[in-house]
Amino acid sequence: MNNVRLVLIGLLIPSLLMIPYSIISFYTDFANKNPEPAQVTVSFQGKVYNAIEGKRAFEQYQCMGCHSIVGNGAYFGPDLTNVYKRIKGNDAALAAYLLSGVPAKGMPPMREREMSEEDAYRTVAFLKYAQMLDTNGWPNNGSWDRDGNIDGVPAKQISPSGIWQIILGIIFINFLIFIVIMVYESEKEEEHD
Ligand code: HEC
Repeated sequence: MNNVRLVLIGLLIPSLLMIPYSIISFYTDFANKNPEPAQVTVSFQGKVYNAIEGKRAFEQYQCMGCHSIVGNGAYFGPDLTNVYKRIKGNDAALAAYLLSGVPAKGMPPMREREMSEEDAYRTVAFLKYAQMLDTNGWPNNGSWDRDGNIDGVPAKQISPSGIWQIILGIIFINFLIFIVIMVYESEKEEEHD
């Protein structure tokens, strides 16, 4: 077997490997899974408010002037990505907090900025959505231990289907190596003839 052929086979193996791996990449858990904002809702007095309306309210009352979401925004107040979780999903408590604020600590009472109760619940819907974003564990609000629980959320594990992908990948690579050896051996035999 000449060198050019060897090089070509060497190039062929990684390019063939790319095919199953690019297909697998569409099916793995590593893709971010974010909720549909229109489907993230809170209800107040029989009315339902979703995270899209909530984002508008969040912008209208300029929460980002002091806060951040996934690290973007201002750093006067705390990051709000996980605040809904911190407050244990208590919509009424969070809405009441927004309306009355903590003036002594710099969180303005939104009531004074003409925020209605409806808008408070809309904002809560947005914060509920923010907390559902797949941010790969950020902000961790505590431990950097990726194997442990980050903020009560278990670190991502390889799913059973992921294990099968790895096994199939190994079988596939062995199969390719087998073919290369077969080709190599048969070429050698031809040279002897
Ligand atoms: C003028 C700056 C400012 C604005 C505007 C502001 N906040 Fe705050 N906010 C703060 C500060 C400062 C704190 C921290 C208060 C404390 O330490 O108790 C805070 C605290 C909070 C908390 C509690 C956070 C926690 O981790 O306990 C929430 C929730 C919150 N703000 C939501 C909002 C929302 C929603 C808006 C927009 C409607 C908003 N804030 C607008 C300054 C602001």
